[in-house]
Amino acid sequence: MTTFSNGAELQDALRRHDYIADDEFATVVHLATALERPLLLEGPAGVGKTELAKALAAVGGRRLVRLQCYEGLDDSRALYEWDYAKQLLHVQMLRDRIGELLGQYPDVADASRFLAEQDFGLYSEAFLSVRPLLDAVLSPEPVVLLVDEVDRTEESMEALLLEVLAERQVTIPEVGTFTARSMPWVILTSNDTRELSPALKRRCLHYHVGYPTLEREREIVTARAPEVSSGTAGQVVELARTLRDLPLRKSPSISEVIDAARAASVMEGVAPESNPVIDMRDVLLSTLLKYTGDVDLVKNRLDGSASVPVPAAATVPAERVTVASNPANTTTAVFRGRGGGGRAAAASGARR
Ligand SMILES: Nc1ncnc2c1ncn2[C@@H]1O[C@H](COP(=O)(O)OP(=O)(O)OP(=O)(O)O)[C@@H](O)[C@H]1O
Ligand SMILES: [Mg+2]
Repeated sequence: MTTFSNGAELQDALRRHDYIADDEFATVVHLATALERPLLLEGPAGVGKTELAKALAAVGGRRLVRLQCYEGLDDSRALYEWDYAKQLLHVQMLRDRIGELLGQYPDVADASRFLAEQDFGLYSEAFLSVRPLLDAVLSPEPVVLLVDEVDRTEESMEALLLEVLAERQVTIPEVGTFTARSMPWVILTSNDTRELSPALKRRCLHYHVGYPTLEREREIVTARAPEVSSGTAGQVVELARTLRDLPLRKSPSISEVIDAARAASVMEGVAPESNPVIDMRDVLLSTLLKYTGDVDLVKNRLDGSASVPVPAAATVPAERVTVASNPANTTTAVFRGRGGGGRAAAASGARR
C-alpha cells in the first residue's frame, strides 16, 4: 500500500502508469486521498475519468472495486444479496437434525412455533453475496472504490451511496450495521446527464475534467501509443483540437485521438506501392468522429465545400502516406494524405 505526500509525487507515480494528469488535477486527487474524501469527477466522455480510478488503484497498490451504475441499479446489485442457494443447501444439510427435534411436537402449530424461534444462522455474513459497496467497506485491505457514471442511476440510489460515503457503514436489517474495516479511496464519475443531489456533492471533492492542453494530449498519446512518432502524434492532436472548436454532435475524445494516431502510424508504415489512392484525412475523420452529420460538417468547413472540383494533382500517384511529412504548424497539413490531399481523393471517389 502506498501513500503520497503531495500532488507532484502522485503525478509522477501516475505518469509511470501511463496516466498523465496536469498539476491541478493531481493536487486535487492527492487531497482527496489525504483527506479521505470521495472525489467526484465530471466532464465529457473519454477524458480519463474512469481511467484515473484504475491508475490510482495501480499506483496505490490497492484493489479496484467498481460499481457500474445504470438505470434500475438496486441494493441487490450495489450492496448485497442473500445467497439463497447457499441458504437452501444449509437447511437441507440440517434436515435430519431438524426432523428429530420436530418429533417432540406432534401438533403442527407447536412445531411451527418451535421452528420460528430457532436461529439457523441463515441471515449472517456467511450467507451474504457481497456487492461492490459492501465489498469496499468490508475489505480488510483498503481499496479504490469506483462508482462509475453515477448520474445514470435514480436519485434513490444516491441515498444509499450517501450512507456508505458519509457514515462509512452499511446497515443490513437482518444482521445489523457493518462499520468500515478499511477506508476506501472513492472516485465517482459523472457525464452530467442529470444534476446530482446537493447532498452527494457536499460530501465530495469535485473536479471538472476537461480536454487537456496540446502538450498534455500529445504526452498522453505518446504514453498510450508509444509506436506513434511524435510528429504524427502532434498533428493528430492538432487536428482533434480543430475539430473540438466546431459545433459537433460528438467532439473527439482522448481515446479517439489515440485511435487516430495509431491509425495514422499504421498508414505511414504501409509501403507506397501497396497503398491505394486514399484520403488520409477521411480515414482519420472516421476514427475521430462518430456521426455522419459531423463528418459532413467538418468536410464542409475545412474544404469550404463538400463537393470540390478535382485538381489535376488528384490523379498523380503520390509519395508515401504520411501526416507528418507536411508542415506541422498548419492544421490542414494533417489532412493532406497523399497525392494532393483530401480534396483530391474526395473528388476521385475515395470519400467515405
Ligand atoms: N490523462 C490521461 N492519461 C492517459 N490516458 C488517458 C488520459 N485520459 C484519457 N486517456 C485514455 O483515454 C481512454 C478513455 O478514458 P476513460 O475511459 O477514463 O474516459 P471517461 O472520462 O471515463 O469517459 P466516459 O465518460 O465515456 O466513461 C483511456 O482508456 C486512456 O487510454
Ligand atoms: Mg468512464
